[in-house]
Amino acid sequence: MKIKIKPHEKFPGIYWITLEDEIDRLATKNLTPGKTVYDERLVSINGIEYRLWNARRSKLAAAILKNLKNLPIKSNTEDKLLYLGSASGTTASHISDIMGAGGTIYCLEFAQRVIREFVEHCKVRSNLIPIFGDARFPEKYSLLIDQVDLIYCDIAQPEQAQILVNNANWFLKNGGLSLLCVKSRSVDVTKKPEEIYDKQISILKKNNFEIIQVLKLDPYSSDHALVSAKFNPK
Ligand SMILES: C[S@@+](CC[C@H](N)C(=O)[O-])C[C@H]1O[C@@H](n2cnc3c(N)ncnc32)[C@H](O)[C@@H]1O
Repeated sequence: MKIKIKPHEKFPGIYWITLEDEIDRLATKNLTPGKTVYDERLVSINGIEYRLWNARRSKLAAAILKNLKNLPIKSNTEDKLLYLGSASGTTASHISDIMGAGGTIYCLEFAQRVIREFVEHCKVRSNLIPIFGDARFPEKYSLLIDQVDLIYCDIAQPEQAQILVNNANWFLKNGGLSLLCVKSRSVDVTKKPEEIYDKQISILKKNNFEIIQVLKLDPYSSDHALVSAKFNPK
């Protein structure tokens, strides 16, 4: 069977690729042809190289498969995004593909081992800016970051919503958007995931965020939800 490709029906910069097994998989156009970030499969079609986007490795891909209504990441844009908890760059690299060379993705990470690996990808992906720092202390890296259009937060910390709020107060534009990955087990293993999601959502609401959508990410990422919200400070 011939490999097929079609653009995603809602989100520019994202594609469906159908391989030999006839399963549709998400993919992005590789900004750095020939190079992989997490051993993902590369597929060339009509001279263009795509990277398959694994929803079991990326909560953003899982959210797209679970019918995310709005993706605030634009294709070929000059937007700026702050990514809290970029790890070694699995999801950040697909955002880098989508936004293209004109975008800016400030990637904050506090684990030395993973950021060292990530820096190698940033050397070839000019839109990824690695920042070694702790998301709990935005004042410490405030001089390195401009106002941003979007914050993506995936830090698996007990105070994840509050950390997003604090960063939004420093860096997010009025009317800017956020995507928060809530890992219920990082907050409290004894409580039901739904209780944890509600508590994190109430923190966002109290701090001038309007909730757009809440998506549970199972079976791709169990006990995780993605909360999309808009920041409307008074
Ligand atoms: C679940 S992993 C992120 C996976 C990544 N977002 C992806 O999809 O490719 C969470 C990351 O957040 C980082 N992290 C946790 N707390 C942090 C903090 N306070 N400041 C910066 N990074 C943090 C961890 O070191 C870890 O690499």
